[in-house]
Amino acid sequence: MRTPLFNGLLKHTQSSPVQFHIPGHKHGEGMDPEFKQFIGPNALSIDLINIAPLDDLHHPHGMIKEAQDLAAEAFGADHTFFSVQGTSGAIMTMIMSVCGPGEKILVPRNVHKSIMSAIIFAGATPIFIHPELDEELGISHGITTDSVERALRTHPDAKGLVVINPTYFGISANLEDIVRISHSYDIPVLVDEAHGVHIHFNENLPPSAMQAGADMAATSVHKLGGSLTQSSVLNLQGDRVSYLRVQSIISMLTTTSTSYILLASLDTARRHLAMEGHDQLEDVIKLADDTRKKINSIPGITCPGKEILDEKAIFDLDPTKLIISIKELNISGYEVEKWLRNHANIEVELSDLYNILCIVTMGDSRETMDKLIKGLSDLSEVFYYLREEQLSTIRVQVPNIPILAMSPREAFYAETEVIKLDQSAGRISAEFIMIYPPGIPIFIPGEIIEQENLDYIFKNMAAGLPVQGPEDHTLTRIRVIRERKAII
Ligand SMILES: Cc1ncc(COP(=O)(O)O)c(C=O)c1O
Repeated sequence: MRTPLFNGLLKHTQSSPVQFHIPGHKHGEGMDPEFKQFIGPNALSIDLINIAPLDDLHHPHGMIKEAQDLAAEAFGADHTFFSVQGTSGAIMTMIMSVCGPGEKILVPRNVHKSIMSAIIFAGATPIFIHPELDEELGISHGITTDSVERALRTHPDAKGLVVINPTYFGISANLEDIVRISHSYDIPVLVDEAHGVHIHFNENLPPSAMQAGADMAATSVHKLGGSLTQSSVLNLQGDRVSYLRVQSIISMLTTTSTSYILLASLDTARRHLAMEGHDQLEDVIKLADDTRKKINSIPGITCPGKEILDEKAIFDLDPTKLIISIKELNISGYEVEKWLRNHANIEVELSDLYNILCIVTMGDSRETMDKLIKGLSDLSEVFYYLREEQLSTIRVQVPNIPILAMSPREAFYAETEVIKLDQSAGRISAEFIMIYPPGIPIFIPGEIIEQENLDYIFKNMAAGLPVQGPEDHTLTRIRVIRERKAII
């Protein structure tokens, strides 16, 4: 199968032109020797720029266009746009392609910060849909068909509906139904598919956004599809959203110095997924299922699978994600993350108060899985000391969704002041606060700060989890909307 972009680059570099253009390191000759040796001549030879023979991501007409067309075929889209600015860049493009100042967009509240950033840039008004909260696991899932139906009935003038599918934890909604309902209002469905590039390539995984009929999907090829970090695609189908508008917006949001190493990795990852993806994913699913079974036999540790499906928010799940619940060990997920790092040389994908998440991909083997099982078994031996009767009393907490008092853009540009975070209850936030990963905001600009959410933040901070967002990195202060007192 062809890889026109990668092959075009190889052909160009083999002709050894004398380079009087950027990048100035010129095949590594003009750079730090230790880094040059480490990264190697092959990578440096294709670290090039958009000179005429190499096409231009901003106006693709040659080898980049051919590579994007082949990607569209592989992903079942009408058009594919390569993104060298991650899925964040692709998400911002999706949102800004459908809505502008004052226009409504329907979004689940547990969205990645790039969605809220795009809403601020666009000046759009978010209409939030509550995600389903899982009190057993302490995580948010997707949105239900019913809540989408209600939101559309109330806001038929919305310009788009955003769906996260699958979620970071691999949970899928009934996307086909959600698309059908949204299209009955002629409203385009934009899917944050950051965690689902692989699902398109095996029928034992939930349907992909394109298979479910969604209009657009921002898909992280780099996360689970084998391309290099920061490289993603934006897939588009149908005619609810104009291809030309998407092309011009992605160009507005993209660096003019596009990395050909990243672009070539997208071209080749597409080939690999299209040719090997199905069979390799079959092995990945089996590996993950076997591991899940073994984890479930470790005292104090559970790893949910298809038994949690409920026809609503947990309509389907991606079995290659291992949600490992450790709440019965009486330590936080973050402590487990650290323990596994220090005692088993294992790095997990993320941890929160109650879980760790491990991803199983085409890069895994029985050996890597055995190391995880051994690490978790050792962990259980050290920490599983809770008595049976205590277990039923463990309740997990998920943050409340705050009330939006003004539009995120108004709040972002309003007159503000900085106050102590622990005294901010009742004020309107002008900043984001989130735990990263997963990067889902606890507060966004414009929301009323509630004591319950502050308590959740402090609990996460005390557990050592990475709370981020405010200008003040110590998180003792937060920027809020200035309140004007009446003049006496
Ligand atoms: C749900 C979700 N959407 C979007 C993104 C952004 O993806 P990227 O890091 O490729 O910009 C992430 C990243 O973790 C994510 O978890």
